[in-house]
Amino acid sequence: MKYTGIMKEQLQTLQTDFSSALANIITQEALKELESEYLGKKWKLKAILAGVKDLSIEEKKTIGVAANTMKNEFIEALVNKAREIEDAYFNEIEAKEAIDVTIGYPSDNLGHKHPISHTSELLEDIFISLGFKIEDGPQVEDELHNFDKLNIPHNHPARDVWDTFWISDEVNKDKDIGERLLLRTHTSPVQIRTMMSQELPIKIIVPGRVFRYEQEDARHTCNFYQLEGLVVGEGVTFGDLKWTLDTVMKQLLGEKTELRFRPSIFPFTEPSAEVDVSCQICSGTGKVKWKKCSMCSATGWVELLGSGMVHPTVLEGCWIDSKKYSGFAFGMGIDRIAAQRFWVSSSRMFYQNKLKLNEQF
Ligand code: PHE
Repeated sequence: MKYTGIMKEQLQTLQTDFSSALANIITQEALKELESEYLGKKWKLKAILAGVKDLSIEEKKTIGVAANTMKNEFIEALVNKAREIEDAYFNEIEAKEAIDVTIGYPSDNLGHKHPISHTSELLEDIFISLGFKIEDGPQVEDELHNFDKLNIPHNHPARDVWDTFWISDEVNKDKDIGERLLLRTHTSPVQIRTMMSQELPIKIIVPGRVFRYEQEDARHTCNFYQLEGLVVGEGVTFGDLKWTLDTVMKQLLGEKTELRFRPSIFPFTEPSAEVDVSCQICSGTGKVKWKKCSMCSATGWVELLGSGMVHPTVLEGCWIDSKKYSGFAFGMGIDRIAAQRFWVSSSRMFYQNKLKLNEQF
């Protein structure tokens, strides 16, 4: 009986010691140590139980059961503690690495479309309202579509007008004339692609990027954007061309906008005309604050596009009967129109990535 009393006391002390030791533990390593201290080979409980052999059977049972229950309680407490430590570890990581997706954007200036894209879309909307469809074509084009089929054979002097970026000799040296690749110098090759693949009547526009080996100045850049137009059908006239361009430009730049048609030459149109628009920067006066207007070189007019009636040779080259059908085409510089619409004195500025300029629109 004496032993049981002492043992019970010892068990109780053991329990209290264990609980207070456990309460102070915050790492898995310390927990492991505590575990081996109480439940390992030399576990404290074992030492107490060593005295059991001197007890009566009844007493052995009571102490044995009490000791076992305590052992299980220790195990449970250790497992819970281990989980607690693990949770605390992950909670800390979560708190440290959390990303607050609701946090405000550093600036409320979310940006906007580039003036050239904006102008292109305005033009597209106007043309679509007039019944035009939008077409697209490759920027790396072959010679056949960019030149030959447009009535500019490879020895024709007109080729020099389109200062061309050819794809490297390595790629082009094994190709036949006509198949050689280049960066398209205008959107006109899409005229050919469309006439060769679509039924008549055709009424399309082609907005897109083009490339030329240019000396850069206020109106010229090595890469710029054009918007091509093509209408082919029965009874299409030069009057239709004039009406279309006049309507579009007045809608885009305002009712007061005037157009000027000047005779010109393009191998793929006959007759041909270049079209100027009254300069929006200097209102056609040629002067900005007593200085010469650089946009129109003080002429009051800005050259916007080339145009004309599709040349019969071009129609026939696309298997279209030029006696029955006629068409008009034009190619305008979107950059120049953007400069006019947004009153920017040099379209080159659109490519200089100056936020100060772009932020104004
Ligand atoms: N492709 C011509 C150019 O880039 C413009 C043009 C298009 C002229 C269609 C006439 C007809 O200069």
